[in-house]
Amino acid sequence: MVSPTTMAAVRASGAVPNAEYLLAVEGVRKEFPGVVALDDVSFRLKRGTVHALMGENGAGKSTLMKILAGIYTPDKGQVKFKGVDIQLKSPLDALENGIAMIHQELNLMSFMTVAENIWIRREPLTRFGFVDHGEMNRKTAALFKRLNIALDPQAEVRDLSIANRQMVEIAKAVSYESDVLIMDEPTSALTEREVAHLFTIIRDLRSQGIGIVYITHKMNELFEIADEFSVFRDGKYIGTHASADVTRDDIIKMMVGREITQMFPKEVVPIGDVVLSVKDLCLKDVFHDVSFDVRAGEILGVAGLVGSGRSNVAETLFGVTPASSGTIEISGKAVKVGSPTEAIRNRMAFLTEDRKDTGCLLILDVLENMQIAVLQDKFVKMGFVDQKAVSAKCEEMARKLRVKTPNLHERIENLSGGNQQKALIGRWLLTNPRILILDEPTRGIDVGAKAEIHRLVTELARDGVAVIMISSEMPEVLGMSDRIMVMHEGRVTGFLNRAEATQVKVMELAAQ
Ligand SMILES: Nc1ncnc2c1ncn2[C@@H]1O[C@H](COP(=O)(O)OP(=O)(O)OP(=O)(O)O)[C@@H](O)[C@H]1O
Ligand SMILES: [Mg+2]
Repeated sequence: MVSPTTMAAVRASGAVPNAEYLLAVEGVRKEFPGVVALDDVSFRLKRGTVHALMGENGAGKSTLMKILAGIYTPDKGQVKFKGVDIQLKSPLDALENGIAMIHQELNLMSFMTVAENIWIRREPLTRFGFVDHGEMNRKTAALFKRLNIALDPQAEVRDLSIANRQMVEIAKAVSYESDVLIMDEPTSALTEREVAHLFTIIRDLRSQGIGIVYITHKMNELFEIADEFSVFRDGKYIGTHASADVTRDDIIKMMVGREITQMFPKEVVPIGDVVLSVKDLCLKDVFHDVSFDVRAGEILGVAGLVGSGRSNVAETLFGVTPASSGTIEISGKAVKVGSPTEAIRNRMAFLTEDRKDTGCLLILDVLENMQIAVLQDKFVKMGFVDQKAVSAKCEEMARKLRVKTPNLHERIENLSGGNQQKALIGRWLLTNPRILILDEPTRGIDVGAKAEIHRLVTELARDGVAVIMISSEMPEVLGMSDRIMVMHEGRVTGFLNRAEATQVKVMELAAQ
């Protein structure tokens, strides 16, 4: 063990330059109340490589990386950095020693500018000791130029799309000139083009000898970018292989301990009457003349690039941002949806795209997060909540969706990313919706749970629910939808039937 000062010295001298591994983790254990998140885990990261971490939701990937980034202290075990035992005291300690992490849930201050976020706590100062905004913006512009990012350093983060916020996080991590860069599901909000851009950045960093840990649930990314990968299951280390040596099925088997045969269990179910009919819906300056119908039992996929207005349409349907013109009919009756409460009254449900901003109430427990939509009316009789009945329903739903948590009184913040998502899906299913709007429902969800969610959506369609599913994952859209609506820059550019839809046709309509 060395103190932070000697660590700095280690870094400065590039000590043990011949150590084969940048990071070597041995026998690490981490327990949280009621869960063993990591049990006797090993992991090694070589210089100049991209190392993917794979594993089901709750396997312990983020926890292990948080240990390496100085956020958690392991209960047991050893962490070696460039051949030297280290014990990191804080995220700042990790950063100063050359280990940077981009988190699964973004962590920027939305009311500050891009540049302020990047240089926070290390702002360049003028000779009078004030923050030198000019210099800070110049440094940011230089950083963006190097990374080929087209963003204004002075833009406020709250005005950026999730994808652009992600780019800011990446630039911030790179700006620390770290030896190790940890990325926890960095592409979950990125389009294909942005992913390609990120991969260029990653390859460039790799060629400079940086070691990159890359957590992902996406198999194709692993084969494209990772040199090696390690698999974790239920807090245990399963193994490490070179990506070139294995197939997709090998990895799935390592991850879940069994084979998953069907990813998109799409069933042909009878399609009923029109449930939702939208005509000429507009939101000034955002989207225009959006018209479509969804029928009972139908899954309408909505494809398009990030920024095409898909999520905005969903928000307007749900009353978050009421339309500036156009009509919405539900089962033939014109409705005005002025607020989410009214939407819920009309038996609409909306799983939002961004868990942290609009979905999860992080300081509440799982039960409170799950019951919140149902409490709008269903279990409330004359102002009193039948808490026992609500709790029982939530328990049942959590079991059905296999939400991994010690119990429903755990703060949702402490659940793994994928399990938070499952709890939120449960929230909406409890309302027994007739119109279900899903915005990127399986983002950050592992292969096993993904198949479960697809099965669930299929079942809901069979029960006559009208489903609108926004997804940026082409196989998901093509696999699950009866019909696909494609949007581009705030307009509907076309519809494709299940039989005629192909990736190329969708992309043609999406990119125009
Ligand atoms: N701060 C915490 N307090 C309590 N339990 C926690 C905490 N952080 C993680 N856990 C639990 O530890 C286990 C591992 O979680 P972790 O976030 O590492 O999973 P993950 O592999 O990153 O999953 P995902 O793919 O869903 O992001 C989970 O059961 C989770 O609920
Ligand atoms: Mg995680």
